[in-house]
Amino acid sequence: MKLILGIESSCDETGVAIYHAERGLLAHALHTQVAMHNEYGGVVPELASRDHIRRMLPLIRLVADEAGCRLQHLNAIAYTQGPGLSGALLVGASIACSLAYSLNIPAIGIHHLEGHLLSPLLSDSTLKFPFIALLVSGGHTQLMRVDGVGKYTLLGETLDDAAGEAFDKSAKLLGLCYPGGPELAKLANQGRPGHFHLPRPMQHSGNLDFSFSGLKTAVLTLTRQHTLDEQTRADIAYATQEAIVEVLTTKSLAALKQTGLNQLVIAGGVGANQHLRAQLNEAASKNGFRVFYPDLEFCTDNGAMIAFAAALRLQKQEMKSDYRFNVRPRWDLQQFNYSE
Ligand code: KG4
Ligand code: ZN
Repeated sequence: MKLILGIESSCDETGVAIYHAERGLLAHALHTQVAMHNEYGGVVPELASRDHIRRMLPLIRLVADEAGCRLQHLNAIAYTQGPGLSGALLVGASIACSLAYSLNIPAIGIHHLEGHLLSPLLSDSTLKFPFIALLVSGGHTQLMRVDGVGKYTLLGETLDDAAGEAFDKSAKLLGLCYPGGPELAKLANQGRPGHFHLPRPMQHSGNLDFSFSGLKTAVLTLTRQHTLDEQTRADIAYATQEAIVEVLTTKSLAALKQTGLNQLVIAGGVGANQHLRAQLNEAASKNGFRVFYPDLEFCTDNGAMIAFAAALRLQKQEMKSDYRFNVRPRWDLQQFNYSE
């Protein structure tokens, strides 16, 4: 089981990669649909599915060429089985399963968040189990304890909006393009500290859960109370980013204290945020723990993390060839734990 093709199509990125169990990542490619969804202010699921159909096979050919291998050399095909948009997931699942069937090799459904939380291991072999993972994407905000591949315990999660959603919705209120997270972060660079103060919901709730919907309402109130000139927008962006990052940092520290662990993994798109990275690095040097980030290109959705998660699973489990597939638009990562 050495050569694995990974396919990601859970949302608005078509990601394909080939991973070799001994030689590592051989090639990967990504097509982002951001420009296509931009004019609608968010992801349009039907358009996303159609675009995955258009892009997937050319990307698979491209990656195989780059890796210098033929499809016949593949030993397994991994695809994102969930969570995500059902139509988009179905594109990846059906292509992966039919290709695997034609090649008579296993097709492996991977949990998208498992891909994210194992992705720092792709580039940093000094990370060892157990660790705490902060999963911060457009749809999820969770703190997990990771004791090994397939051994995940949920410590806390958002009760409403995800951190990425808080970034995106606040960005929209500030008139920024979708996806708003990186745009808001850019605007925040021009913002002045201390001009606005936004609430830090549930920061001291005594547990590891999050809530971000109140923050969005507070941003809405600010945008209504002030004339939105360039500087004011930047100041609001600054305050928004500061509030989200402070809550994420405080809760991550609390998770490390509660479990006594000293390694923190940041996974998911919001992990690309430079202010979050700076705050976590500072907290790490003060409190004596290590923070691990995936390489920037593997922070957001990609096929490499799916191929890699499958490679780790294959080291532990024999996979049967079963080409019946069902996608899981909602999927609890803990249900996915397996015993050895
Ligand atoms: O993990 P991801 O690529 O897709 C999902 O599985 O959701 O995460 C996307 C999220 C979006 O909400 C996006 O705005 C946010 O990650 N994001 C950022 C940054 N880059 C991406 N948020 C804040 N700062 C960034 N630099
Ligand atoms: Zn993701």
